[in-house]
Order: sequence, then structure tokens, then C-alpha cells
Amino acid sequence: MTSSATEDVDERAPRPGEVVLESHLTAEDLAAALRDDARAGLQSTPKRLPSKYLYDERGSRLFDEITRLPEYYPTRRERALLELVADEVAEVTGAHALVELGSGTSEKTLLLLDALARAGTLRSVVPFDVDAVTLAAAGRQLAARYPGVGVHAVVGDFERHVRALPRTGGRRLVVFLGSTIGNLEEGPRARFLADVAANLGPDDAFLLGTDLVKDVGRLVAAYDDEAGVTADFNRNVLRVLRRELGAELDEEDFDHVARWVPAHERVEMHLRARRDLRVAVPALDLVVDFAEGEELWTEVSGKFRRESLTAELEAAGLAVRRWWTDPDGDVALSLSTPVGPARAAG
Ligand code: SAH
Ligand code: AVI
Repeated sequence: MTSSATEDVDERAPRPGEVVLESHLTAEDLAAALRDDARAGLQSTPKRLPSKYLYDERGSRLFDEITRLPEYYPTRRERALLELVADEVAEVTGAHALVELGSGTSEKTLLLLDALARAGTLRSVVPFDVDAVTLAAAGRQLAARYPGVGVHAVVGDFERHVRALPRTGGRRLVVFLGSTIGNLEEGPRARFLADVAANLGPDDAFLLGTDLVKDVGRLVAAYDDEAGVTADFNRNVLRVLRRELGAELDEEDFDHVARWVPAHERVEMHLRARRDLRVAVPALDLVVDFAEGEELWTEVSGKFRRESLTAELEAAGLAVRRWWTDPDGDVALSLSTPVGPARAAG
């Protein structure tokens, strides 16, 4: 595997069978961002942390476990939908390169890659994720499965580095699956979509997976499973704060909370202090007090409706060309192209 950092970005498209690893975010950058975010977030009201810090290597593993839980329907439903529409996506996009944002293990993405391979257009794949360990493993697996295809794995933050994604490799399909877009609040989401639109060329397309608004009982259960895996995933951020900042936080002192917030049509995850706590954070030279019952807000997971999502995409300069839902109507995939004349997927 060859590698390069932001100062020395490898702009060359990978050759078939080659894995290029590019990083916009070194471990040091991420540690510095965590220090800034934790300093601001632990002193704000309510206390909060960006959800990207849930995903160290352990967090990514726990998320993977979540995707197999009976309560967590989104992954299963999206996979079922991809099975139905992958060939159509391949046909209407004719993509040579698949760029995946927040790619994780890229497991469902194989359905799209197989379809593009069947259609005979696939030349390269660009997985992009904040978790370098999971990304590197996924990159190796992709290279082994598609020996004729170049893999250009990019470590980065999709709130900062989307405009810098490689634009080489022919017609591109940018995909963002799993409703990870729901983990961005409204303002950051609009900025993210504008970044995606700015990165797309006239013949490129954007495939977006979203979880739809539904019965609140099912929504909340998906984030508060019986086995307690989501609770472990949520509490994982405490381990990250302990490891990276020396924070004297203990998982036993916090309850996992998942609740539906109707005004924003989103599920929120919080960690609620079981008792009054005084927490030293040596790396920040900070002491943080939690009152019993006080919450640390760790994630939003927005749920979507076709009309408002279409409007959000349009506001970013993206026109929805196809809209599919799974047979149960739980999740959706939308295929958009930059607004303009005669597009590939039009
Ligand atoms: N796309 C996969 C994984 C979803 S989990 C699926 O559909 O199942 C969310 C993924 O986004 C994780 O791999 C996590 O590491 C990544 N992620 C979270 N915040 C990110 C950020 N700000 N920038 C880049 N990747 C991020
Ligand atoms: C990655 N993301 C879309 C997941 C979600 O459903 O918001 C993360 C997750 N959080 C709790 N369970 C799963």
C-alpha cells in the first residue's frame, strides 16, 4: 500500500490492483480536533461532543455489531433495497469510479461494485472515512475482491474534506449510505450537501441512503437495543476521552439515553450522569462538573421525508433523478445529479 499525507497528496489515480492511501487527517490532527471539540463541548450547555468521536477502532466494531441487531432495521433494509436497484444504478450512472463517504466496512457497497463490475464500467473505488484502521482494512478487502480495480482510500472528515476528494478516474458515482447524513444537523447537512455538489462533475451522480420517519417505537428501539450494544457504542466515547485526554470518566457513571425529538424528527443519543460527578481532564487542564441527571449529547440521527429531502438536495444544486424505497417503506435511496442540462442519470 502506498501512502501520502495532505502536504504530499498523491493525485494519481491508482492503477488496477493497487491501493493508494491518502490522508487529510493524521492521528495528530484528529487528536488536536478532539482537544478543541472536547474543550468547547464539555463547557457548553448542554454538554456535547461530535458523533465522529464514537468511531475509533472499537466504536467501528460496535457499530458493525449494531447493524446485525434485530432492532436495528436500517442496514438490513438498505441492503435489501440495494439488491433490488444496484443494476439500475449501474445502468443509469455508467460509473467508472465509486466514491464512498463514511464507508466503514463498505460491506453493502459490494452490491453496487458488483453491479458496476457486471456492467463492465468499474475502474476504481475511493472509500473515505475518519477511522483510518477500518478504512485500511476495507481498502485491502476491496483490492482482493476486485483485482482489476484501483483502490484509493482516503482518510478524512466529511465535514471538511469532501471538496478535496479526487476527481480523477472518469464518470463518478459518489455514495453516502446508511443514513449517515442523519448524523449531521440541519446547518452542517446543508454545508455538506453543497460540498458534495461542488465536488461533482457534470456527468457524476450522488446516491444517498436515508432512513425515513416512521413509528416512534421502532425508531427508539433501534437506538436502545435489548442486548445493550448501542449503549456500549454510545459509552465508547467516554473511553476515547479517557484514552486521548486522560479524562477521569467511568462508563459505570453514565446511562445510555435514546429519545425521539419530534420538532427535528430525529433520534438523539445522550449519556446521562447517574450521580454528581467532578471530572478532571488533564490534557485540557480542565475540571468538568456533571450534576446528577445531566446529559452529554453524543449523536443526532435525523430521519427523512421525500419532499423535504428533495428540497434540501435542490437547495444544494442537486436534482433527484430516481427515488426508491424498500418494500416495507422503511428506508430510501435517492440518485441525484448536479442541476444542469442533459445529465448521465437524467
Ligand atoms: N456506510 C456504512 C457505515 C456507516 S457508520 C454503512 O452504511 O453501514 C458511519 C461511518 O461514517 C463510520 O465508518 C464512521 O467512521 C464514519 N464517519 C463518522 N463521522 C465521520 C466524519 N465526520 N467524516 C468521515 N467519516 C465519518
Ligand atoms: C452511522 N449512523 C447512521 C448510525 C445511525 O443510525 O445514526 C449510527 C448509530 N448510532 C446508534 N446506532 C447506530
